Amino acid sequence: MTVELTDTSGAPESDAQSRLIAIGTGSEWWRSAVIYQIYPRSFADSDGDGIGDLPGITSRLDSLSTLGVDAIWLSPFFTSPQHDAGYDVANYVDVDPLFGTLADFDTMLARAHELGLKVIVDLVPNHTSWDHEWFKAALAAPEGSPERDRYMFRDGLGENGEIAPNNWQSVFGGPMWERTTNPDGTPGQWYLHIFDVSQPDLNWQNPWVREQMIAVLRFWLDRGVDGFRVDVAHGLIKETGLPDYTPPADAGSMGGGATPLEPGIDSDDPPTPPYWAQDGVHEIYRSWHEVLDEYEGDRVLCAEAWVEPLTKLARWVRPDEMQQAFNFTYLEAAWSAPQLRKVIDTSIYAFGTVGAPSTWVLSNHDVVRHASRLALGADNLQGDGIGPKTPGLPDTALGLRRARAATAVMLALPGSSYIYQGEELGLPEAIHLPDDARQDPTWFRTKGERYGRDGCRVPIPWEAGKPSYGFGPTASSWLPQPSDWDAYSRDRQAATPGSTLELYKLALSLRAQHELGMGTIEWLPGYDDDVIAFSNGAVTVISNIGSVAVELPAAAGDVLLASEAIVEGVLAVDTTVWLAS
Ligand code: GLC
Ligand code: MG
Repeated sequence: MTVELTDTSGAPESDAQSRLIAIGTGSEWWRSAVIYQIYPRSFADSDGDGIGDLPGITSRLDSLSTLGVDAIWLSPFFTSPQHDAGYDVANYVDVDPLFGTLADFDTMLARAHELGLKVIVDLVPNHTSWDHEWFKAALAAPEGSPERDRYMFRDGLGENGEIAPNNWQSVFGGPMWERTTNPDGTPGQWYLHIFDVSQPDLNWQNPWVREQMIAVLRFWLDRGVDGFRVDVAHGLIKETGLPDYTPPADAGSMGGGATPLEPGIDSDDPPTPPYWAQDGVHEIYRSWHEVLDEYEGDRVLCAEAWVEPLTKLARWVRPDEMQQAFNFTYLEAAWSAPQLRKVIDTSIYAFGTVGAPSTWVLSNHDVVRHASRLALGADNLQGDGIGPKTPGLPDTALGLRRARAATAVMLALPGSSYIYQGEELGLPEAIHLPDDARQDPTWFRTKGERYGRDGCRVPIPWEAGKPSYGFGPTASSWLPQPSDWDAYSRDRQAATPGSTLELYKLALSLRAQHELGMGTIEWLPGYDDDVIAFSNGAVTVISNIGSVAVELPAAAGDVLLASEAIVEGVLAVDTTVWLAS
């Protein structure tokens, strides 16, 4: 069908054009895929140095195919000094020795493809590492040189340029600017870094930068990857003039809202910060779309863009831009039936207006794991993390129960779902990491005021009773693993009825069997406000998010899946059930 797209957000866009596009449901794999995020440092360690690596991943891929996912996304494994766990890339087209070699990557990719798993890699275009040769050349080159123009260098304010060019604050805390020192030792210009000081922002107005990144795309596409998760896809372009800006106090560090107890899913269009969600980013993604189109198979771009509201985020997935965008509004929704109904409706509507599927996600390497987050007793800003002194620390059993129920809702929704390594084991956030073990730049840049994201990045347990729970051949683990993780280990849960791992496996196999990812949902009437009830094809999903048990309808079909045992037809609180319609 060919339709004329109109912008549903109401906000005019400077690059808006009437573009005739074909929309349709399409059959591309990514529309309904379940994509498993591997955080390479913490997945599986082959050489015992305490850091997960590519051969480790290869050796454990079978377990992911048994789990029943369709694809994997790997967080960065590229050459990097690791100041932000690899999101500070010093060479986009090579593998860091910590993780192995390009040959190890090829072996991993071939094995994944053999198992029928698609492979998505992480592209970090907003910034490089300060170790990247482009940045080193920029520092060595004079002011106003082409080398400097690849980054965001500016003169300082004040008599001697001693004041940062504007008031922007880094996502990780502290100023977003760092002053350089000239080769002769005198103080020089400042450079912009949205994140750590070791992550200078590239200047995306510079055509040379655009060409280089397209070459990077081609390098990995030629190697056979199925797509890219695009880091900070709302940050590449900054508002002209770099005006001062102070974000609202309740903004998460990446620009989304807080993780609130009662979020306003459709709250007013928040102001657009001068470094997020600028209209100029879209032409960049259109050019990438064209590159992907040259390749066989359905290659995919997935935006990590913390943009609200969803009608605005939908611009990232217009038919000639990216294919997917992470749905962080869904991730940030409270454990509340009215809120979930609203965000599910809004998501399907907003993405639907541009012919894109919605995505769903509950956990990743930047947020508090949902087995802990859903039982938090106080608001928590994305990026702050939780630790021993956080107010309202979660009850582990309650968190796990809610996480299982939440996952059972998510995996029944049409569209593509992302799951984060370890959530299939029901892993909670590691809250009691010792201060001296923490490594997130947020922790250092805020002098311990914000814990940061280490708690969701602890190496995952494979085998109970083994050193490092079988993460690697030694006891070594780059972040210490809690002492009570035997019960979470994969071998303990495999084939154990009722385990979280078995719940995920069953959900994924039913999801595939009933083609839920390509389905349509219909809300079912007759339930309390704090119960979610919908059908997706032949499956009825009911989730009790209230405070009293609910009787299942007398005529209810067979139980296909339940996040907790169903006793005598009663759906207990914080439980989700799938019934045959
Ligand atoms: C993204 C990544 C996060 C990283 C940041 C800077 O948000 O997910 O882990 O720190 O970008 O690259
Ligand atoms: Mg290793």
